[in-house]
Amino acid sequence: MHSIQLKNINKTYSKGTNQVVVHNNFNLKIKSGEFVAIMGASGLGKSTLLHLIGGLDQATSGEIIVAGQHLEHLNESQLTQWRSENIGFIFQAHHLLPVLTAQANVELPLALTPLNKKQRQQHASTALALVNMSDRADHFPRELSGGQEQRVAIARAIVSDAKILLCDEPTGNLDRKTADEILSLLSKLNSDFGKTIVMVTHDLKASEYASRVIDLELYLQSSECKNPENAPSQQTANQQEVVS
Ligand SMILES: Nc1ncnc2c1ncn2[C@@H]1O[C@H](COP(=O)(O)OP(=O)(O)O)[C@@H](O)[C@H]1O
Ligand SMILES: [Mg+2]
Repeated sequence: MHSIQLKNINKTYSKGTNQVVVHNNFNLKIKSGEFVAIMGASGLGKSTLLHLIGGLDQATSGEIIVAGQHLEHLNESQLTQWRSENIGFIFQAHHLLPVLTAQANVELPLALTPLNKKQRQQHASTALALVNMSDRADHFPRELSGGQEQRVAIARAIVSDAKILLCDEPTGNLDRKTADEILSLLSKLNSDFGKTIVMVTHDLKASEYASRVIDLELYLQSSECKNPENAPSQQTANQQEVVS
């Protein structure tokens, strides 16, 4: 089953009289359970893709179907609710709130759910345990290392049990060893917990962890990108592949 489908997407930003065409007739299919790394030069439209998939931005035209939902059919408040149930975002900068502890930061997304305080605490504790941060639950972001902050951000992304994680250069600010730890953690969330992961990255080691690597520059010229019917539908998770 496809978890993510972009069909004939056009995305144009208008800035005054200037029109920036970012994506033109763009097609992409990602299966449930895949760990896809998207690589490519700055300005190619990688972040834009993640924003479209996560419903943070709208396509100029085309269809976006994520977790069985046509996003173009949802209004702003429906999108917010849908996002909180289905999508976890992880960015290069962790965006943790400095005045809240790790535990409270992870509990935040649950404010949109019907869970009571005790349940929210339990869910956040489980998420922190998963990223191996239980012993730092009471720490504030300034009391954590960069890698630890990113682990807390990952806990926050998974606390609602979102099935899809969208990661924008999640290791961009980290040293090699810490980056490897974060990539291993994402890989574990994919293999052991079935998360579908789309990760934009410049990290050349990403291919050691992802099940598919998309070189966006090559992909944009491919028939798979231009024609939704050409997209392969038989890729299995953990199958190493470089799209060319
Ligand atoms: N909100 C915006 N308004 C106008 N242009 C934008 C906006 N966001 C992105 N762009 C333009 O779209 C292009 C792709 O941006 P982006 O998706 O951030 O690329 P990447 O993540 O691959 O570096 C760039 O040329 C950028 O300037
Ligand atoms: Mg970007």
